[in-house]
Amino acid sequence: QTLVVRTVAELRQAVKRFREVQETVALVPTMGALHDGHITLVRQARQRASRVVTTIFVNPTQFAPTEDLAKYPRTEAADLARLRDVGCDLLYAPDVSQIYPQGFATTVSLAGPAQAGLEDRFRPSHFAGVATVVTKLFCQSGADIALFGEKDYQQLCVVTQMARDLDLPITVVGVPTVREADGLAMSSRNRYLTPQQRAQAPLLHRTLRQVADDVIKGADIETALASGRGAIAAGGFELDYLEARQAVSLAPVTSLAEGPVRLLVAARLGATRLIDNIGVEAA
Ligand code: PAJ
Repeated sequence: QTLVVRTVAELRQAVKRFREVQETVALVPTMGALHDGHITLVRQARQRASRVVTTIFVNPTQFAPTEDLAKYPRTEAADLARLRDVGCDLLYAPDVSQIYPQGFATTVSLAGPAQAGLEDRFRPSHFAGVATVVTKLFCQSGADIALFGEKDYQQLCVVTQMARDLDLPITVVGVPTVREADGLAMSSRNRYLTPQQRAQAPLLHRTLRQVADDVIKGADIETALASGRGAIAAGGFELDYLEARQAVSLAPVTSLAEGPVRLLVAARLGATRLIDNIGVEAA
């Protein structure tokens, strides 16, 4: 049984009932069009708390005017069926008025220079939109923990930092990326790929692995990245970035000695933008 609520008041009422019997609450924020990556977050949530709240809200403030807000897939009936199957207790699917009521004027944004130069270069207002909606979802739900996928690694870092900086009483938990058999990271946007693009797409993950292997074998990071960038361009992608960063702070790194390293990539196949990342130690 998955109860569906659409207002803050109903959400708070339902969570209050859980709390009255000493239950713990895990939150899984999503934009819907649920796939196995999302469902894995819900499964993990079930293991970490006695009640799970999934949210579906296609957040307009994190899309640039040029992006795919209007055509973002909306599949609530199928999503609800999947949430029922996996034992999610509550689906919070608010109307936009519950998140951004008339007169809404506050934005949460991070000033951290360490994270600069990745997604923000290509999506300048994206993380302010994410941080604002995630803060609201944390406050509206009052959950104990919230789960986010490593698939959106910079987002996971942004949310973790924001929760710490603002003393939000919630624990942010990261979940490893769920992949198709050929290595492609699952994403709601994969459905936009033509069959030919779908066949090209796994090159992104293969290249990340190759760069990680090269670096582990002692190659200079910049040299390994340069050949990775070449491989991605040769594979028919328009590359936005392929970078190596310190895994926790996302500060630039030049050697493995500077701590755990994360490789992050964003590249476009036609109109579809794909992102992926891996840890270098995970080879
Ligand atoms: P969305 O893209 O729907 O993703 C919801 C959550 O699922 C995110 O934490 C994302 O990292 C995770 N996820 C997506 N694909 C995954 C995969 N292949 N493996 C593991 N986890 C995966 O990210 C958002 O929505 C929004 O920005 C949101 C946080 C909901 C704020 O609007």
